Amino acid sequence: MTMLSTKRTKTPPAIRRIQQELRERTKREQQHQSRRLFQEANRLKRLPVYLFTILDELKAKAKARGVDVIDLGMGNPDLPPPQHVVDELVRQAKRPENHHYSRKGGEVERKLHEAVAHWYQRKFKVILDPAGEVLPLLGSKEGISHLSFALLNHDDIALVPNPTYPVHFNGVVLAGGILYNIPISAEGHYLPDLGSVPNSVLRQSKLLFLSYPHNPTTAVADLKFFRQGVAWARRHRILVIHDFAYSDFVYDGPRAPSILEVDGAREVSVEFHTLSKSYCLPGIRLGFAVGNRDVLASLAKIKGYMDFGIFPAVQWAAVEALTGPQDDVQYVVDTYGKRRTLFVQGLKRIGWDVPSPKGTFYVWAKIPLKFSALTSLEFATLLVQEAGVVVAPGSGFGEYGEGFVRFALVEPEPRLKEAIRRIARVLQMAD
Ligand SMILES: Cc1ncc(COP(=O)(O)O)c(C=O)c1O
Repeated sequence: MTMLSTKRTKTPPAIRRIQQELRERTKREQQHQSRRLFQEANRLKRLPVYLFTILDELKAKAKARGVDVIDLGMGNPDLPPPQHVVDELVRQAKRPENHHYSRKGGEVERKLHEAVAHWYQRKFKVILDPAGEVLPLLGSKEGISHLSFALLNHDDIALVPNPTYPVHFNGVVLAGGILYNIPISAEGHYLPDLGSVPNSVLRQSKLLFLSYPHNPTTAVADLKFFRQGVAWARRHRILVIHDFAYSDFVYDGPRAPSILEVDGAREVSVEFHTLSKSYCLPGIRLGFAVGNRDVLASLAKIKGYMDFGIFPAVQWAAVEALTGPQDDVQYVVDTYGKRRTLFVQGLKRIGWDVPSPKGTFYVWAKIPLKFSALTSLEFATLLVQEAGVVVAPGSGFGEYGEGFVRFALVEPEPRLKEAIRRIARVLQMAD
């Protein structure tokens, strides 16, 4: 067996070629950046090229070669949104009065705030003031990144478990705050050890990002964890930002709790949601934040300078999604649950043993030992080039994601089976 993980191995030519291509790509990018007439701001320079941009390029090249690409890279839901929501979107898009700027306090704005509050009461038994404790967003990514701009000064620290959804740390960097990574790992169930943060760091810390069910590791958290987190946040006067994008995606266990179920949580936390995942509506860009009213007021203030609100037809569609029949959500979760079982068992059959995800619609997989000398980007590139399967390299989720790749189960079962067959051939390359 050729062990790519040992120094004395002979690297297969396909891998050598990939390593060379990636080195050249980085060099080309650096040269291009240094020659630009209009240089990027330093805070933007601090961010690398978005990994999905690199993957998109690789995917485009593979497609140009005639490869039938199976895209498990981005968490871009493939299932259709509920028909009644699409019908409402179309109906409202046809009404001329919905083509003006959206206005604070207008009819649909009020209805959407109320719909979110009712949804919270129904799902989590949390009572929210629709006017002050709910803020609709142009997708949760927008709100999460703007929140760092709204709250961080250059000497404020944001505590970010790592690996995580990249917007959590990139938003901090863009806002010019100080990023402090808290490594999370399988041994600690991918929950941050808040006690590990030194007092000197805590004194300067203003924000803590959490997100369970967790992208990319698929970990879940229970109410006890949130209770401890809220008590800790109150003690240290730190705002907990809970990104709850995958609230419905839990398998084999109890439902995922909202942090706001903890008594007193709204004094120190805000929670973010999205229609992109549960309702399969990533394109319409609709999310919302709930919780601490002062924090939401600051987020609304900064947004007031950045955007002009949400297309009213989209807001009506969101009202329909949150207040209408919910059976489609369960169908979506069940579908991903079945895909998860199929995919994890398939990987196991071809010799790649990965833990079964507890939540989300991802599979977080440690790169097989015999390929462990490769970076996650190199390994992901290998899978695109040799198997036509796109996956997300773990390093895109932060330095502690290195050594892993993430599969998004956003293709139907026959395509997932085909992906397994193709991946099996790549794994055999090192035998
Ligand atoms: C954890 C997490 N939060 C937020 C988002 C962004 O969602 P939205 O489409 O609402 O911007 C994603 C998207 O993948 C995500 O994984």
